[in-house]
Amino acid sequence: MLPRWAILTAAALTASTYGSALPTAAPVPDKVYNAHPALITPSLVQRYPTKTYKHRRDIIDDIRGRVDEVLSDLGDLPSYVASGVANFFQDFPVGEDVQSSLRIDDDQVSALPTNVLNLPPYGNWTDQGWNVRFHGNVYKQPNISREKLDDLANIFLIDVDIDELRPSEQDQARNLTSGIFVIQQGDVNVTLHLEPAPSAGSDGEEGGGGAVTAPGGSQNLTLPYATTDQGDFDVFLPIESNGLEAGNATQNIQRLNVYANGSDLGNATAYLVPPTGFTIISDIDDILRVTKIYQPKEGLLNSFARPFTPWMNMPFYYANWSRSIPDFHFHYLTTTPEQVTRNYMDFIFNHYPGGSFDTRPLNFSDISATLSIRRFLLDKIFQTFPQRKFILVADTSNSDVMKAYPALAHDYPNQVQCIFLRNTSATDEEDKFPYDTTGFKNLNQQTYMFFRTPDDLANLDIVGGHCLNASVQQNVTFGLQDEVLGIHGGEDAATFLGVNGWFTTAVAAAVGIWLVL
Ligand SMILES: *[C@@H]1O[C@H](CO)[C@@H](O)[C@H](O)[C@H]1NC(C)=O
Ligand SMILES: *[C@@H]1O[C@H](CO)[C@@H](O)[C@H](O)[C@H]1NC(C)=O
Ligand SMILES: *[C@@H]1O[C@H](CO)[C@@H](O)[C@H](O)[C@H]1NC(C)=O
Ligand SMILES: *[C@@H]1O[C@H](CO)[C@@H](O)[C@H](O)[C@H]1NC(C)=O
Ligand SMILES: *[C@@H]1O[C@H](CO)[C@@H](O)[C@H](O)[C@H]1NC(C)=O
Ligand SMILES: *[C@@H]1O[C@H](CO)[C@@H](O)[C@H](O)[C@H]1NC(C)=O
Ligand SMILES: *[C@@H]1O[C@H](CO)[C@@H](O)[C@H](O)[C@H]1NC(C)=O
Ligand SMILES: *[C@@H]1O[C@H](CO)[C@@H](O)[C@H](O)[C@H]1NC(C)=O
Ligand SMILES: *[C@@H]1O[C@H](CO)[C@@H](O)[C@H](O)[C@H]1NC(C)=O
Ligand SMILES: *[C@@H]1O[C@H](CO)[C@@H](O)[C@H](O)[C@H]1NC(C)=O
Ligand SMILES: *[C@@H]1O[C@H](CO)[C@@H](O)[C@H](O)[C@H]1NC(C)=O
Ligand SMILES: *[C@@H]1O[C@H](CO)[C@@H](O)[C@H](O)[C@H]1NC(C)=O
Repeated sequence: MLPRWAILTAAALTASTYGSALPTAAPVPDKVYNAHPALITPSLVQRYPTKTYKHRRDIIDDIRGRVDEVLSDLGDLPSYVASGVANFFQDFPVGEDVQSSLRIDDDQVSALPTNVLNLPPYGNWTDQGWNVRFHGNVYKQPNISREKLDDLANIFLIDVDIDELRPSEQDQARNLTSGIFVIQQGDVNVTLHLEPAPSAGSDGEEGGGGAVTAPGGSQNLTLPYATTDQGDFDVFLPIESNGLEAGNATQNIQRLNVYANGSDLGNATAYLVPPTGFTIISDIDDILRVTKIYQPKEGLLNSFARPFTPWMNMPFYYANWSRSIPDFHFHYLTTTPEQVTRNYMDFIFNHYPGGSFDTRPLNFSDISATLSIRRFLLDKIFQTFPQRKFILVADTSNSDVMKAYPALAHDYPNQVQCIFLRNTSATDEEDKFPYDTTGFKNLNQQTYMFFRTPDDLANLDIVGGHCLNASVQQNVTFGLQDEVLGIHGGEDAATFLGVNGWFTTAVAAAVGIWLVL
């Protein structure tokens, strides 16, 4: 079966190419919508007809009933949301698919300038000197007419046409859409130029943790492997010292500018991080910016149309930590797909301290890979800095976080300093998604806190390992929780619903974004 974007692209192109036959105001999405009707997620009972647990049937039936309510509350969502994780912020077209869907030939493509998405890298200190993990993507940006872009943008909007949005929202929708419709370039050799980053940061971002201008490090290098078929590169490489301070002789984080040769957009700051100290790993959606993943329509508008907005006064607390915790390394880790990462980086570096960045590479695209990517990236950074201590930040509406963060505390004893989880349902009763706190069992209560608003994070002694604000009542049941639905943990519920997997899968299928962002 063709992916939805292909069907829609064809429809959108037909509409824009033969537009004269249609009135300008022709509701293209409705047309498309009718051609490809919304699939409503089937009830759990239909989905799992053979699952019965006689001895606990009452609880299960009860919970199923309430979950069915949530699902039906979500209303009629288009199939790309309702039919599962595979379709929201996923299955974006890549490479030749974009080219053929936009009907541009090879000559037109080769005339386009090359762009490089250069993700701000981190580097560790080894026996061979500094090693830096260069990662990103090489692509070309086709010139898409505004009319066509609007048609394509409508694919990503639910129940609203781009014409109905405010001008700033239209710009954002067009910007994101053009970021998605890019042609990735495989088999390209990537050449980078490194030089000390001026202390203010070339693009105005604050260094984060008092990072300093490196005293050396200028060099050119070519990555040892060409880009993958999907245009990605991701390689850990020793760099020349050329005057850099040794990692075992300084506590400072040294900053280098990394320019990708041949692309004006390929600039990033690299952070050379000493073996010991503190690193904060922060998720972005619903913790640093307002997303509302748990309300799919809002989530889509906040992701595709509205300019990104910080969540309350979180920037104040990050700025405070950046100033007051010595040599604090900031690392932003989001599982949003690579194609929309530039918008995430721009947002972060306008509101939060500078830092290294991880996102979902293109080869992690099927459902199981999507679910494993966060843990994969977390393991990578933990193993890169085996002596550093980590502060992990995210929110409860994110099921992979709820699993991965406490698991890291078990798997890397002594490396997890604090876990901060925003309880999204505490401030937003629209959040009806259950979250599983089973993993927190047996963790020291001083090392984690569920909090409601950024001010709950005030005056914590993170370096001293006191991560709990005693005035914030903790209601962790070490099971599945969903107070809005009256589910109060109990390992029973967790065993049935979480560990059996069907619950998670079914809710995920209903609201793919919950798991994806
Ligand atoms: C620093 O690390 C380098 C490379 O591993 C090593 O040769 C050197 O002896 C170390 N210096 C100190 C002071 O530990
Ligand atoms: C992009 O296309 C528009 C017309 O669709 C044209 O005016 C513009 O010059 C083109 N830009 C480039 C860089 O080719
Ligand atoms: C989208 O906007 C960002 C700034 O927020 C900019 O860096 C990027 O180049 C824009 N992308 C496109 C494809 O226009
Ligand atoms: C990339 O570099 C390698 C080694 O230098 C070379 O063999 C190969 O031809 C280059 N590939 C391209 C596409 O330039
Ligand atoms: C890096 O390459 C540029 C040309 O792209 C050259 O001007 C510069 O001198 C080189 N720098 C080093 C340190 O080799
Ligand atoms: C950078 O790319 C230009 C062409 O875009 C080329 O002439 C130059 O040699 C390259 N420099 C390096 C250091 O690869
Ligand atoms: C990237 O760096 C190059 C070289 O300094 C500069 O010409 C270009 O404007 C920079 N691009 C951005 C987006 O900062
Ligand atoms: C994706 O590519 C990276 C290297 O770029 C590799 O380490 C990883 O295993 C790949 N993941 C999948 C799911 O193929
Ligand atoms: C540096 O990072 C690499 C890649 O994660 C890892 O294999 C290596 O063990 C790290 N080196 C040290 C000294 O921590
Ligand atoms: C989250 O907030 C809800 C609503 O206030 C509350 O009932 C629940 O106990 C909180 N969960 C945790 C883990 O604190
Ligand atoms: C825990 O539950 C109490 C009572 O519902 C509530 O006031 C408090 O905000 C909850 N704590 C968190 C962290 O959500
Ligand atoms: C700022 O951070 C420092 C160190 O973590 C802490 O002592 C101080 O109380 C914080 N200030 C606020 C307002 O949270």
